[in-house]
Amino acid sequence: MPSPPPGPRKSVFRQTYRFLRDPMGLFGETARRHGPIFTLRYLGFPPEVYITTAELAERVYALDGDGGGRAGQVRKDFMEPVVGRHSLLSLDGEPWRRHRKLLSPPLHGRAISGYRDEITRITLRALDTWPTDEPFRLRDRMQEITLEVIIRLVFGINDAARFGRLRTLLPRLIDESGSSQFMMLPVGLRERMTASPLLRRVPYLATTRVAVLREAVDALLHDEISQRRAAPVEGATDVLSRLLAARDADGEPMTDQEIRDELITMLLAGHETTATGLAWTFERLVRDSRVLDRLRADLAAGGDEYLDAVIKEALRSRPVVYEAPRLLDRPLAIGGHEIPAGWYVAPLIALIHRDPTAFPDPDEFRPERFLPAGEGRDEEAAERARRSWMPFGGGRRYCVGAQLALLEMRVIIREVLNRFDLEAPAGAGPEAVLLKSVTLMPGDRARVIARARTAVPAR
Ligand code: HEM
Repeated sequence: MPSPPPGPRKSVFRQTYRFLRDPMGLFGETARRHGPIFTLRYLGFPPEVYITTAELAERVYALDGDGGGRAGQVRKDFMEPVVGRHSLLSLDGEPWRRHRKLLSPPLHGRAISGYRDEITRITLRALDTWPTDEPFRLRDRMQEITLEVIIRLVFGINDAARFGRLRTLLPRLIDESGSSQFMMLPVGLRERMTASPLLRRVPYLATTRVAVLREAVDALLHDEISQRRAAPVEGATDVLSRLLAARDADGEPMTDQEIRDELITMLLAGHETTATGLAWTFERLVRDSRVLDRLRADLAAGGDEYLDAVIKEALRSRPVVYEAPRLLDRPLAIGGHEIPAGWYVAPLIALIHRDPTAFPDPDEFRPERFLPAGEGRDEEAAERARRSWMPFGGGRRYCVGAQLALLEMRVIIREVLNRFDLEAPAGAGPEAVLLKSVTLMPGDRARVIARARTAVPAR
């Protein structure tokens, strides 16, 4: 009888501690010792089996839908306090399928292609406020831009006062609800405390802060939703307008609560991830003058092929989301092992992206690997690379916002390089990879120095 995949013998405490401090070190070491499929154990969670090759990952993605792998259940406890019960992130089965069908069309590449000009305007306004000639954290500046993109283009909010309120409240809600004080409480207790009128009087409780912020945000969003239902704006292209107009297979519209939950879902899944992807791209670029020079030359000549290759290589070498876990409904036979029902199984994106058979010299930042034919690339290797590149996950739960994220990255990188010469602060080596929730962040939040460019190339 096949056994579960092997893993370290260390106690669950030590595995958890090591994971929190140095996830990439733990993953790399365990893969070297135990092979391409291994088990790690963390305090308070089912055992988690990690998959480190594209072939095996495809088997896991094939479990989506009704195949016995539930991505929603894995995310539920973390996400539900903020995103609510009607979120694409945390639903499974039929309710997930219904929401996916409603949310996909408004986020499709064609539907959002008209967002380019507004993203450019948002970026240019933000760049006016950047400090020059002194180090600053690019990740924070990127987050300001990606937050504005979500509020204006996804929520469709133009009213200045409402925009200002949301821009203040949303980051605070995300921070408070992701804080360890809040997350460490058992789920049931957390909910009871948040709902209790008595405990709501205790201002220093994390549950009180989350409840107060959530109410303020919800009041604004529900007000916006009812105003727009009462007076739809002709020809509006923001995601909220499209969700209001959408109908499911039975011809039914989404409820206000469903729409509220999906707006917060897109905010939560979409703005920090995109900001981190951008931060890593610049963190890599300022440390590689060859790539940066080639990118500038290509952009100046009006090309965007190299820009796309740079973005792909940044998301490969520094994937923002390191894994795509599923909870198993039934046992899974895979790679000569059997994983029991009730365990997690996760394509480990961070190591799949370092598979040398798909990406030779994986430590090198080499966008050329993603350029179409030429440059001595062989087609078989290209196909391997294509299958192994999965920064947005895979299967039916593939990131629904991937096209928006890539559009933002293209526009923002171009505008930043048009306006500034960027460099790493003197003596600053590559930034460490830091775990933040399910993402991997640059340890110093991508510190750079921006210098105004004297000659601004034509766009
Ligand atoms: C660089 C930026 C981004 C990265 C790296 C990223 C990555 C991911 C990954 C790895 C998943 C899980 C896929 C899986 O389990 O197979 C995911 C799911 C998701 N993402 Fe993104 N994402 C990004 C931007 C966005 C944006 C801009 C939005 C929305 C506007 C978004 C919305 C979502 C949603 C709603 C899901 C859940 C999909 C489902 O379960 O059906 N993401 N994303």
